[in-house]
Amino acid sequence: MSRRSEDEKLHLNVNILPSGSHPAAWRSPTGRPHGFIDIALYQEIGRIAERGKLDAVFLADTLALPVDSICDGPTWSLDPVVILSSIAAVTEHVGLIGSASATFLPPWTLARTFLSLDHASSGRAGWNLVTSSDPTSAFNFSADPLPPKALRYEQAAEYVEIVKALWDGWAEDALIADVESGVFADPGRIEAPNHAGAHYAVAGALALPRSSQGRPLLVQAGGSPEGRDLAARHADALFNAQLTLAGAQRYYCDIKKRAEAHGRRGADIAVLPGVEITVGETAAEAWARKNALDELIPRDVRIRHFAAHVGIPAERLQWDEPVPIEFDDLLTSSNMFGFVSAVNDLNVEERPAVGELIRRGGAGHRTLIGSPTEVADSLEEWFEERGADGFNVNIDVFPDGLERFVALAVPELQRRGLFRREYDEPTLRQRYGVG
Ligand SMILES: Cc1cc2nc3c(=O)[nH]c(=O)nc-3n(C[C@H](O)[C@H](O)[C@H](O)COP(=O)(O)O)c2cc1C
Repeated sequence: MSRRSEDEKLHLNVNILPSGSHPAAWRSPTGRPHGFIDIALYQEIGRIAERGKLDAVFLADTLALPVDSICDGPTWSLDPVVILSSIAAVTEHVGLIGSASATFLPPWTLARTFLSLDHASSGRAGWNLVTSSDPTSAFNFSADPLPPKALRYEQAAEYVEIVKALWDGWAEDALIADVESGVFADPGRIEAPNHAGAHYAVAGALALPRSSQGRPLLVQAGGSPEGRDLAARHADALFNAQLTLAGAQRYYCDIKKRAEAHGRRGADIAVLPGVEITVGETAAEAWARKNALDELIPRDVRIRHFAAHVGIPAERLQWDEPVPIEFDDLLTSSNMFGFVSAVNDLNVEERPAVGELIRRGGAGHRTLIGSPTEVADSLEEWFEERGADGFNVNIDVFPDGLERFVALAVPELQRRGLFRREYDEPTLRQRYGVG
């Protein structure tokens, strides 16, 4: 595969997990136990991200209280769009991407909410289309169980067409606002979706003109074949989980091919694996920070998190032994195909012990710990070798972990010509090359 040209730059988002991505973040000396409901902390994170010239902040979401794990730490709580709106108010450039469920929220409501955020932020909004994989969330919306994954993606395919039609409903010249003539808007240039399909019926247009970037950036995060196909058809950017470069390259190549099969250019969809970064002035300092955090969590709790994440009974796992289960079965039944297949890739390549799998990121995203040079080397390798167009960066503890990333890793990436020094594009879509 060819190396990158000098003009190609990395995309970097920060994934704002509550308190931080390390499970002990909220208990760390620099962590904030109540930070997950503190708007001031989110605004601080937004300002730091903007100082680092990051593409965007990202907020995941879930629509249920995780009863089994809430004892161990905070979860996604505040509505992402509320958080992103408050970050919009204190920043000027950084993009604002939030997850919202196509399975449970009415498409008209969702389209309106994200286009509102897009207006409120002058063209910085992005929607991460998720289909919700947690069975308990279904019962917060009706008495019906979570639809099977294939059906969720089928519904989502119809849903996304409706949302796009709503966002594109107003022609660019539909809003006239001519004080002299008294003509405000031309209804002849506003197209209603008039959609009546297998799963949804949505008649009328939004009462909202296009935003300055046209419509929000569309992001997706499914790793299964159905999820990849939906992304390849519609998404401008794609989050994924990868623990090995070879796995990341396979995924990257697959997505670009699928996009081309749908008549798009591979470059129209940015592939952004997650990576949890702990950077220090020196590798020793970074490792000391990581080890101190790890010591706050007993091994059995870490095994429990990992087991729940990949769908293995915790009692079958030993810290010093490899996983004793066939991944083929797990992959077939998994609600989180992308995460499980990432663990499978590492397992097949190296057969590590469970403790090592967890240390490398098996309970979430790949961990990268080291000096600024080591961190930049790894990100550069994945970028140059086409495992990634950029990264969704997970931060161990907010806010100081992000301060460190911006102060130590970002300048090294800039020095190598891999990352922007200034924001050049006014909108998020332009930053992702799709505006
Ligand atoms: C970085 C990343 C962020 C995600 N964020 C969310 C989220 O906010 N809410 C959610 O329900 N699922 C989220 N997911 C899960 C996926 O959207 C998807 O539902 C899940 O991976 C199962 O689909 P799959 O089997 O196609 O991978 C995320 C996945 C990744 C990799």
